[in-house]
Order: sequence, then C-alpha cells, then structure tokens
Amino acid sequence: MKVLVLNGSPKKQSDTFRLTEAFLRGLNKNQKHEVQIVNVIDKDVAPCRGCFGCWQAMDGHCVIDDDQNEILDLYCQAELVIWSFPLYCYSMPSHLKAVLDRTIPLIKMKMVELENGAVQHEALADFSKLHTLVICGCGFPDWDGNFDALRIMCKNCFGDPRIVCVPETPLLNVPAAAVVADPLLKKFEYAGEEYSNTFALSEETITELETPMIPKDEYVRIVNGE
Ligand SMILES: Cc1cc2nc3c(=O)[nH]c(=O)nc-3n(C[C@H](O)[C@H](O)[C@H](O)COP(=O)(O)O)c2cc1C
Repeated sequence: MKVLVLNGSPKKQSDTFRLTEAFLRGLNKNQKHEVQIVNVIDKDVAPCRGCFGCWQAMDGHCVIDDDQNEILDLYCQAELVIWSFPLYCYSMPSHLKAVLDRTIPLIKMKMVELENGAVQHEALADFSKLHTLVICGCGFPDWDGNFDALRIMCKNCFGDPRIVCVPETPLLNVPAAAVVADPLLKKFEYAGEEYSNTFALSEETITELETPMIPKDEYVRIVNGE
C-alpha cells in the first residue's frame, strides 16, 4: 500500500509524530508498505489565493508553482493519507491548513447533494478507495469540546476518516513520563498492525488510543509546577 504521511508539526521532536511513528512501525510489521513522509514545515506551500484557476485548468494542479503540486501528485497516488499534526487553536497548524486548502485542485466546481442533505463538490478523480487517518496530539488534558471543531472539519473535508485525538501529548517527550508514554506508544504500534490487516481501526482501539495517560487533575498540577 502506498502511504502518504503529512507531518504538520513544525517541531523536530514532535510529540504527535512519535505516535505516528509508532503507528507506522505497526503498519509495516507484517507487510512492508511504501511510506512517503512529507515534513510540511520544510516545504514551500503558499496560502491559497482563492483565484479558482485550478477549476479552469482542471488538471489536478494549482496555478501557484511551489511544492504543493508535488504534494498533490503524491496525494493522488496514495492509498492511505495520514494527517499527523498538533492541535493549534482547535484546528490544524496554518502551514498544514495551507496544504489542505490547496487540495481544491482535486475537486470540481460542480456541487452534489448527499443523502444527508450536505453539499459537496464533485471529486476530479475517483478517491472512493482512498483511506484517510488523522492523528492529532494536543497540550490540554481531556475535556469536552477541545477537539470538536477539528472533528467536524475533518469529517467534512475527508468524508469519513478515522480520527484519533490524543490529549496530554507533551508527556511523550518527558523522560520521567515514560512509564505512561511507552504503553501508549505500544498501543499505537498495535493499532498500526490492526490497520494493516483490516484497513480500519475499531471503536475500541480508538478509545484506547484517546484515553488520557494520566488523570486530568494530575496533569494540570504537573503543567502548573504544583
Ligand atoms: C499556537 C499553538 C496553539 C495551540 N492550540 C492548542 C489547542 O487549541 N488545544 C490544545 O489542547 N493544545 C494546543 N496547543 C498545544 C499543542 O497541541 C501541544 O503542545 C502538542 O503536544 C504539540 O505537538 P507536537 O510536538 O507534535 O508539535 C497549541 C500549541 C501552539 C504552539
């Protein structure tokens, strides 16, 4: 399987990417997949100009001549796209959002109404077999609402992706927290194996991956240095 990983953390030592790497280890355990990792922060991807030049050309490319066209080509070849990024202001970091905005060359102006009443643009190519997985880490402990906006955006943009939202991810880069971080990394590895076998993650697995490493009060106390 061709896997495209869009790493949206701007950091060299990304908390979130440690989870994604563990997932990839599991994914590749029994079968070797062709994994292409794009560190988006190192790419030259300008914001969308909103010119809709792509909808005139309809060739799957953007009129801006930068690294996004290479990313679009990789996207079209991929069977699985993993969006790996930290939660920034309840959404994705702006450099990754620029990549997402500039996937509109892959859709047409033509609108279609879905059974549930939602309206979408028709895809330029058949993406019905493309799998999408979102792995998002964040700095807050688990609280209702922190990931709500992101979940809605991902559902509307990617169809029905698997979304894994992980609280307290800064613990992954704290050596003293290895006792709780290592088991979570192991769970991500098993999840990668599960995904490799089934092209899916069960609700039980997602719940396990999203379970906070430590209780909310304890996490807040540690962050506050109390
Ligand atoms: C600009 C900015 C905005 C952030 N917004 C949120 C947020 O809305 N919710 C949250 O829980 N954490 C937020 N965080 C914390 C990051 O998600 C957190 O530090 C994460 O672990 C960083 O992951 P990374 O190491 O993979 O980049 C924000 C961090 C930054 C720098």
